[in-house]
Amino acid sequence: MEYFYAQDNLSLGQMAARWVAREILACPELVLGLPTGSTPIGMYQYLVRLAQEGLISFTQARTFNLDEYVGLNVDHPQSYAFFMREHFWSKVDLPKGNAHIPRGNVSNPAVECLRYDNAIQKAGGIGLQILGLGLNGHIGFNEPSHNMEIHTHVVDLTAETIQANTRFFPDSSAVPRQAITMGVGNIMQAQKILLLVSGERKRDILNKTFYGPVSTEVPSSILQLHADLTVLTDIKL
Ligand code: F6R
Repeated sequence: MEYFYAQDNLSLGQMAARWVAREILACPELVLGLPTGSTPIGMYQYLVRLAQEGLISFTQARTFNLDEYVGLNVDHPQSYAFFMREHFWSKVDLPKGNAHIPRGNVSNPAVECLRYDNAIQKAGGIGLQILGLGLNGHIGFNEPSHNMEIHTHVVDLTAETIQANTRFFPDSSAVPRQAITMGVGNIMQAQKILLLVSGERKRDILNKTFYGPVSTEVPSSILQLHADLTVLTDIKL
């Protein structure tokens, strides 16, 4: 594991964007695994800037988002598809067909999970997986549990995650109760992982992630076992 400290959230975003840019320049057809949430917003802003300045291009890249809420369609302002369009897809030269995200508003989410896994496999797997870190140690929406799911699956969100995500909805009752998420296996099979962690409130979970036991109760702790993991954080450990 490599660990890099950023002064603040702004420089974390810049560092992450430079990291991704370097990987894209080295391998223009890179398959990227992408997160949503507050943490990566700065990274997307800088990536957009680099792309608009003509320094990088996503024309040959493919992207797979980690997760999507069950029941929200792509035009719902709180859907992750909407977030990606706002922050990234509509602002860079990534071909539309190369941007993938689980479809939340389908009649059979289990079939959608299979379709998504097949699409990842067909793309040759994830080359660089970028992750945020949930307050309870979730990665994607792999929540603390007695077991870890390998493949893309439907997950019941924990009360803690629903509470944390209420800030984006009118109230907690409007937060979807389920999501489709890549599994821990999909994430761990990525060739490289870049974990972004921002804000003092994540100090405790960051410590547990890397200095605690590997446990299904802290899903992010499995990252200790990944061979090529980089952590960018503005938390001084
Ligand atoms: C989102 C995702 C989640 C977030 C995590 C942290 O696609 O996969 O695991 O990365 O909940 O979210 P923020 O960055 O909002 O603290």
